[in-house]
Amino acid sequence: MSETTFPQFRLLPGPGICYAVEGPKRLIEWRPRSDGWWRTDVVAREYPEQLLIRDLLACEEGRYTTCTEEEVVLQVARGKVAGDGILPGMQPGVARCEPTADVDLSGLHTFGVPARAEFAVEVRTDGEVRAALQWAAECALPVLVLGGGSNVLFHRDVEGLVVLNRIGGTAVLADDGDRVEVAVGAGEPWHGFVVQATEAGWGGVENLALIPGSVGAAPMQNIGAYGAEVREVIAWVEAIDRRDGALQRFTPEECAFGYRESLFKQAGRDRYVIVRVGFHLRRSVEVRTGYGDIARELAGVEAPRPGDVAAAVIRIRRSKLPDPAVLGNAGSFFKNPVLSPVAFAPLQAAHPEVPHWPAADGTVKVAAGWLIEQAGWKGHDRGTHGVHDRQALVLVHRGGATGADIWQLASDIRASVRERFGVDLEPEVNQIGLSAAAPQNSAQGK
Ligand code: FAD
Ligand code: EPU
Repeated sequence: MSETTFPQFRLLPGPGICYAVEGPKRLIEWRPRSDGWWRTDVVAREYPEQLLIRDLLACEEGRYTTCTEEEVVLQVARGKVAGDGILPGMQPGVARCEPTADVDLSGLHTFGVPARAEFAVEVRTDGEVRAALQWAAECALPVLVLGGGSNVLFHRDVEGLVVLNRIGGTAVLADDGDRVEVAVGAGEPWHGFVVQATEAGWGGVENLALIPGSVGAAPMQNIGAYGAEVREVIAWVEAIDRRDGALQRFTPEECAFGYRESLFKQAGRDRYVIVRVGFHLRRSVEVRTGYGDIARELAGVEAPRPGDVAAAVIRIRRSKLPDPAVLGNAGSFFKNPVLSPVAFAPLQAAHPEVPHWPAADGTVKVAAGWLIEQAGWKGHDRGTHGVHDRQALVLVHRGGATGADIWQLASDIRASVRERFGVDLEPEVNQIGLSAAAPQNSAQGK
């Protein structure tokens, strides 16, 4: 961690105002009132607020005094607190990190291949995230954040500390009768949030029903399915910077979302721990039923509501995708390749039937599942592992395979698709512990 670490605590003697500086642009303020405190949660996008934070950090002109978290917690505990509510994960309290050594990860990820962690710890608050980062920094150990483990392939045991994100809770921050702003803890199961939203009549996430994993990992690859992507409903993402513990709030633009991409997967990879996500959902939303089989599933349903769409998506997904509780997998192993018009032209000339989706910028997304199936891999069986027989993009683990075995199969598929169609498939699944000596495609390991 760098020199200034967060949070920092300050007191303004006289009026007795308490401050927790959570980051260079983030501040919690408690102002004393006759019957207790007024709490304000400041996201400092504007200059004056940023200036106040700078002054607090510098203890400008000796106005402010430095204090500890315990002192602020003790002070504030003396009275009732009104004002801005506490976001999921921001519960005050002094956190310690007490990791467990030599943890079996095989039940903590959906591929189910064998892997152990040197150390692992569950975190439920921002404070526990920071304590875990601090502990790992002091031990000079690397950190791996894991949510539901539904988009990772372990190639070997993990050196260092696995931080299991279990930050729970949902808070409605605003509701004007139509549009709601909801903050959700990063460790909440994604599908649980979809159920909660559709039951409340909030539209926007229904097409993303039954995607496994956590809310915190959803922005990581901008999860998408059935004509929707999570970026369309994300209001903001909050993450702790591993370098200094600072809490940062990112706008959707700052998240740099793309198809199965974001800042957190690219320039911000291994830098941020996502702790909360804010969503904008609407009661008046027009449901999207245009993709694939949804319209057919909804035939006969007049004016479908978000809950009807979610139910249709669940039925379609159950008919195509393997349940990780029964058959190990991480969903689509590869991304659908996005080709330039120049690269797409010869493919289309040779295979006019190839399923594809042109984008506004001229690029063309091609169905990787079709390429893999045409190359003869659908249902391919290597005993312990293979290719799903209903979805060629999904590699499956039947039991007894290692991450290296799965990667060898993925590498063979890539080589064959490249040879047959001249198209390079890029893995979607995050490769953990992939060594340079692994078969051919290691340079692309993510
Ligand atoms: P993990 O697998 O735990 O982590 C994934 C990556 O994100 C890792 O690199 C990890 O280090 C990082 N990470 C996790 N949490 C955090 C955090 N809080 N802060 C910073 N980094 C973090 N995906 C889709 O987009 N669409 C689908 O339709 C879809 N269908 C699927 C179907 C099945 C059957 C399965 C098994 C997977 C599917 N997926 C799909 C992939 C997967 O469910 C998503 O990518 C999901 O968002 C992963 O969440 P997770 O919590 O399991 O992430
Ligand atoms: N196809 C085949 N053979 C196959 C699989 C697919 O020919 O074995 C063809 C289909 O006929 C169809 C096209 O490919 O024309 C698209 O298939 P599908 O609708 O099943 O979707 P996909 O492109 O294979 C993507 C996502 C899924 C998401 C679905 C539904 C990627 C990498 N995958 O799959 O996401 O659930 O669309 O929207 O974009 C994931 O990311 O893990 C994932 C499962």
